Amino acid sequence: MYRDKTCGELRLSDAGKHVTLSGWVQRTRKLGGMTFVALRDRYGITQVVFNQEKDGALFDAANALGREYVVQMTGIVAERESKNSNMPTGEIEIIADGIKVLNKSEVPPFTIEDDTDGGDDLRMKFRYLDLRRNCVKKNLELRHRMAFEIRRYLDSKGFLEIETPILVKSTPEGARDFVVPSRMNPGEFYALPQSPQLFKQLLMVSGYDRYFQIAKCFRDEDLRADRQPEFTQIDCEMSFVEQEDVIEMFEGLVKHIFKYVKNIDFTEPFQRMTWNDAMRLYGSDKPDLRFGMQFVELTDLVKGKGFSVMDNAELTVGICAPGCADYTRKQLDQLTDFVKRPQTGAKGLVWVKIEPDGSIKSTVGKFFSEDELKDWAKRMNANPGDLLLIMSGDKMKVRKQLCDLRLEMGERLGLRDKNVFAPLWVIDFPLFEWDEETQRYYAMHHPFTSPNPEDIPLLDSDTGNVRATAYDIVVNGTELGGGSIRIHDSKLQDKMFELLGFTPERAHEQFGFLMNAFKYGAPPHGGLALGFDRFVSILAGLDTIRDVIAFPKNNSGRDVMNESPSPIDDSQLEELNLTVTLPKEK
Ligand code: AMO
Repeated sequence: MYRDKTCGELRLSDAGKHVTLSGWVQRTRKLGGMTFVALRDRYGITQVVFNQEKDGALFDAANALGREYVVQMTGIVAERESKNSNMPTGEIEIIADGIKVLNKSEVPPFTIEDDTDGGDDLRMKFRYLDLRRNCVKKNLELRHRMAFEIRRYLDSKGFLEIETPILVKSTPEGARDFVVPSRMNPGEFYALPQSPQLFKQLLMVSGYDRYFQIAKCFRDEDLRADRQPEFTQIDCEMSFVEQEDVIEMFEGLVKHIFKYVKNIDFTEPFQRMTWNDAMRLYGSDKPDLRFGMQFVELTDLVKGKGFSVMDNAELTVGICAPGCADYTRKQLDQLTDFVKRPQTGAKGLVWVKIEPDGSIKSTVGKFFSEDELKDWAKRMNANPGDLLLIMSGDKMKVRKQLCDLRLEMGERLGLRDKNVFAPLWVIDFPLFEWDEETQRYYAMHHPFTSPNPEDIPLLDSDTGNVRATAYDIVVNGTELGGGSIRIHDSKLQDKMFELLGFTPERAHEQFGFLMNAFKYGAPPHGGLALGFDRFVSILAGLDTIRDVIAFPKNNSGRDVMNESPSPIDDSQLEELNLTVTLPKEK
C-alpha cells in the first residue's frame, strides 16, 4: 500500500494516528537537528519532521532528498508548535518514522510554486511540471466542476449527450479548416470539424429533440488570448423552439453555473441589446458592461467649423472619462499613442478637459469656441473634472477605435474588476456581412441561420439590412457563445446559398446531405454553442484561455512540449500520395 491518507486531509483531530503518505518533495528545510519536508500531492501539502536525535539514519535520508523526488513517508500525526493558518493541514505535522524513495527527480527547470521563477516558454515546454503548480491545477479543477454542472443542468432538462465525428467534410465557409489526408481514398481529405453544426441539425431531423455535446472544435485561424486552434464548445440544439425558448434555456444554464460553481445568484433576467445599439453605444458586438462610458455622437455639432478632420468624417463620436481632467500632457500623449498603435490604427485623438472651475481646455480650441465645446460637454453629460475623448472617421472604423480606447480607459480607471460579471444578450445581428475585397456577402453567423421572418421580403432588395434570428451571449466584453434559429425550409436555404454566391451545383456538392435531409421532415430548430474554455477562464478571472487548457498551443499554433506540428516521414507521405512543396523563404 503506497498510502492510507493524502497530503491534504490530515487535521488536528487525527493527532496520534500512524499514517502513510506518498507524494512529491516540495521543499526541505533544515533547522539545527531537525529537517522539515513539505510533501505534496494533488490534494495539498503536509509537513513531515525528521529529528536527528531520534533517528540519525532517517534524518540523513531526509536530507538527501531532492526537490520533486517521489517518496513514501510514514509517521505519527502530531500537533504543530508553530501553526500555519494559511494551510488546511497547517495545525499538524508528521513525526517521521520511515521514508522510502519511490523515484528520484532531476532538478526541475523552474520552481513548482504559484510564484514561480519559470517564464512562459519554459513552463510550456515542461507543461507536465507546470501542471503540478497549485494555481494551474486550480483552473483544471474548476474546469472539471463546470463540465460536471453543465451535464447536470442539461441532463435535468432532457438533453442527450451525443458524440459526432471528428473526421468530417471540408466546407468553405467560416474559418480555414484543418485537413487530414485519406490513405484509403488517394487525393481526398477529411476536415476536422470547426463545430458540430451540421450534425446537430441532422440530429434534429432525426427527432432527437434536445442534443448537447462538450465538443472539440478545430479552426485554423490567427490566434489570440481567447482563441486556440483546438478548443471546446458546449454545443446544443433544440427542436420546436423560437429564439426566446433558446435564450431562456441557456440563460438558465449560465445562471446555474454561476450559482453552483461561483455561488453568485443572478436573480434578474440578463440584459438584452440589439446589435445596432451595441455598435452605436459601445462600438462592439461584445460590449463590456462592467462600466459605462457609452459613446455619444457629436457629428452634427462639429461639422462646418473649419476643422477638416471632423468636417470630412462620416462620424465623430466620443466618450467621457469621469474625473480625468487632471490628466497630464504625458498621459494624454500616451492615450494618443495608444490609439495610433497599428492594432487600433487611428490617426489621432481629440481631447477636451472640463476643468473643475468649469473652464475648458482642448486640442481643438483653435477651431471651436468655448461655448461650442461646452455644448459638446453638455451632450456628453460631462461634469467639471471630466475629460472628453473624441475620434472622427469612417463609421465602423472609428467605432472600433473608440471601443479600444474605452476599454483602455476602463482598465486605467480600474473599472474592469474580474470579480464583477456583466452578462448580456446581443440580438438582431445582421444576417450578412459585405466583404469589400471579394465583393460578396458572407453569412455573419453561418449559412444556416434563419433571417428574421419580418425581413424575409427584404432578402433581395435590402440584403445588407436583413436581420438574422441570431444571438450572442457576452460576458465582460468576451463573446461567450452564439447561436441562431436555423432555416428548416429547403427553399429558403437555397435562397440563402444563392445570396452567398453559391451556384446550386456547388451548394449541393458542399451541403447536399443536409439539403437532402431537409426534404424528409425537418422540424423548426435552433441552438447555440458556448465557448467552454472562455467560460472557464472568465470564471477563473484569467486573461487567456491557455491557462484553462491542460496542453495548449502557443500563439504560432505549436505545442512546444511535444514539438508539433512536425514533418512526417517520406514513407508516410508516399502512403498518403502527398508531395510537400515548401514556400521559397523556408
Ligand atoms: P461560433 O463560431 O460563434 O458558433 O462559436 C461558438 C463559441 O465558441 C467559442 N470559440 C472559440 N473559443 C476558443 N478558440 C476559438 N478559436 C474559438 N472560436 C469560437 C466562442 C464562440 O462564441 N456552430 C455555431 C454555434 C451555433 O450556431 O449553434 C458556432 O460554432 O466562445
